[in-house]
Amino acid sequence: MVWHPPGRDDEARQLLDDVVAALRSRLDDEQPDLGRALTYDQLRSALGTSITASGLGGPEALRRFVDVLAPSCLTIDHPLYLAYVPAAPSHASTLADVLVSVWNMYPGTFADGSGAVYAENEALEWLAALAGMPVGAGGVFVSGGTAGNLSALIAARHRWRERANGAFDRTRGIVVTSDGAHASVEAAARVMDADVVAIPADHRGRLDRSALVHAVDQLGPSRRSRVFAVVATAGTTNAGVVDDLAAAADVAADLGAWLHIDGAYGGAALLSAGVRHHFAGIERADSLIIDPHKWLFAPFDCCALVYLDPATARDAHTQHAAYLEPTQWRAEWNPSDFAHHLTRRARGLPFWFGLAVYGTDAYAAAVEANLRSARHAAAMITASSHLELVMDPELSVVLLRRVGWDAHHYREWSERIAAAGIGYVTPTVWRGETVARLCFVNPATHDDDIRWLLDSMSA
Ligand SMILES: Cc1ncc(COP(=O)(O)O)c(C=O)c1O
Repeated sequence: MVWHPPGRDDEARQLLDDVVAALRSRLDDEQPDLGRALTYDQLRSALGTSITASGLGGPEALRRFVDVLAPSCLTIDHPLYLAYVPAAPSHASTLADVLVSVWNMYPGTFADGSGAVYAENEALEWLAALAGMPVGAGGVFVSGGTAGNLSALIAARHRWRERANGAFDRTRGIVVTSDGAHASVEAAARVMDADVVAIPADHRGRLDRSALVHAVDQLGPSRRSRVFAVVATAGTTNAGVVDDLAAAADVAADLGAWLHIDGAYGGAALLSAGVRHHFAGIERADSLIIDPHKWLFAPFDCCALVYLDPATARDAHTQHAAYLEPTQWRAEWNPSDFAHHLTRRARGLPFWFGLAVYGTDAYAAAVEANLRSARHAAAMITASSHLELVMDPELSVVLLRRVGWDAHHYREWSERIAAAGIGYVTPTVWRGETVARLCFVNPATHDDDIRWLLDSMSA
């Protein structure tokens, strides 16, 4: 039971009403402000100390949240928040996140959270089927792409060492990937004390077959035997392009290595018949991640991690301790056993709920809308005299150049439009040059918004 200190029943009732009213007001707000980051000093003067022996009481704590904390955090689902990889959770999935918090279920083990585990697995199976992975593939929802990549690579290395019967137990493994892979692949290798061979991507930022085959040939027999995983990206963060996944699958098969596909951002585009061909080969993954908190309309934090052979992942990850042995009594499917974690939130449930409420067609239509926004932005850029399209968008990332600008101008523009509350768009570096980058994942972004944004670059 959710408790409160004795003698505070009235406050508890009032707080429930006030919080529900605050939720309603945020959810009903069709044009939420972008928000504005405050400095630490500004926050200190607005909030001072909030944690005291007797407490602030519900109204004041909620006021601090609504009036100070929330507006100082950027509205990631603002239609013109196009930086990094934004998020645009659906109404139903957002509400389900509240349900998950209130029920506070524990889906680490089947015995504790069977219903939640069942629903999460239904969502994972749907994603696995979307990628064309065979029946039997399964896994777990983890906090994000970084955690997903790490957990997948731990399973990959486990299989490599198991197959070598101890011969590689003290050998530093190698991950082969491209220099367009997300930084979390390198970070995972660092944590695991593994080496990374980062193959230069092609002119569009893709890992292509010839570069991959050539780089693996160059490794020589001894280093080749240390390769435990090939990591390909299905939707790079910087340019939104998909590696040659079939080539990665072929090379991984030749090496006897694990194929991990990072579709954290781009995997959602499997829902679009128009771009599906870019993903040929994804069905051959030993592990795949797709982040519903990026482009599948779920709130933070939610990464789907799917293994072709969940048993290997379970061997790699299950924690053993006397007090945990009962968790294996009814271990039909213990999500905790499939990643580098133990206690976990039912973070896949809001995603499942959104799919259950709206149906997959609605999600496919939303992804199509984002792809259309990217194409539309590209067309506007091409038609403009002050802007240049760096390359045609493959998915929903658009890179563009403002003629005559250098890194300083992009930064000044990014900060200016953020301060004016117009939008949040950050530059990136493409082949040594600073350019602007737009990432569309929000169906609420309309063509007029994009026009406005691009016009703001004419100043
Ligand atoms: C392709 C890719 N992989 C992994 C990540 C890391 O995901 P997270 O930020 O959820 O840890 C990102 C983040 O943008 C990404 O785009």
